[in-house]
Amino acid sequence: MNKILVIGAAGQLGSELVTGLCNTYGKENVIASDIHEKGDFECAYELVNALDPVRIENVIQEHDIDEVYHLAAILSAKAESNPLASWYLNMDSLLNVLELGRRKIIKKIYWPSSIAVFGPSTPRISTPQSTVMDPNTVYGISKLAGERWCEYYNEKHGVDVRSLRYPGLIGYKHAPGGGTTDYAVDIYFHAVKNKPFECFLSPETKLPMMCMDDAVKATIDVMQAPSDRIKIRSSYNLAAFSVTPDSMFNSIKKKVPDFSISYKPDFRQAIANSWPVSIDDSQARKDWGWKHAFDLDKMTGAMLDALHAKLNTSDRVF
Ligand code: SER
Repeated sequence: MNKILVIGAAGQLGSELVTGLCNTYGKENVIASDIHEKGDFECAYELVNALDPVRIENVIQEHDIDEVYHLAAILSAKAESNPLASWYLNMDSLLNVLELGRRKIIKKIYWPSSIAVFGPSTPRISTPQSTVMDPNTVYGISKLAGERWCEYYNEKHGVDVRSLRYPGLIGYKHAPGGGTTDYAVDIYFHAVKNKPFECFLSPETKLPMMCMDDAVKATIDVMQAPSDRIKIRSSYNLAAFSVTPDSMFNSIKKKVPDFSISYKPDFRQAIANSWPVSIDDSQARKDWGWKHAFDLDKMTGAMLDALHAKLNTSDRVF
């Protein structure tokens, strides 16, 4: 059984992916790590700064790690307030891990990319796998550069690195940390408490989104696929459904009839406007059998149920 290290495990994706990995491989085979002193995980935890290659290597040796899921990054909206620090974290941390792959210290790497790699000149409807890419955010530029590095290390050094371009991810365990799609998580936290929600994107802003359960499944599936099925070594387009704040609100309203929303678009609107409306992920479906399970209404039901249980809302409104 391969042993797995997750770097950046305390974030929105990591906190749910660690559980998925523990359920799949056993918690004795998974090590969570992040920059916080302590971690609240079902498996062992190590303090790891993704910018410290010596520390990463020591933890890998100590736990006899085979695979690394490297998730640490600063997301799209937050990165705009500190461009150089964000570039440095997003890029150097990836190179630290790719170098360990080149030196055969680790056997397999997972690294997440994003729809943020696309930009204003990209075709926005059913965005193809291979197309114009002119991201105009620091986050998008770092993810596009990272994709090129992944493919480079695979071609030149045979590093087995795999990646997915996630759409906006919607999960209940952890609030997202500074993305343009964060409203789609926040809206459920408000709905479950029946508090009015103010949305930072306009009602008709359509973006690709995905339930976290599907994202975790896709991540584990792409890592489990035989190497010869992975034809794309930059990053795979990945999709489930596209949604506007207005359609998400209406999906919630079916369960929480009194829920209310108002709109106050801010600087994140321009970022959203530069991203695709929908994604063509046929290559992922063909190469390694990707298939999503959650549509908007199914996800709304799951999110409200899970948040109700998590927040223990005694005055359940649905
Ligand atoms: N959800 C991310 C963000 O909004 C995109 O990868 O930054």
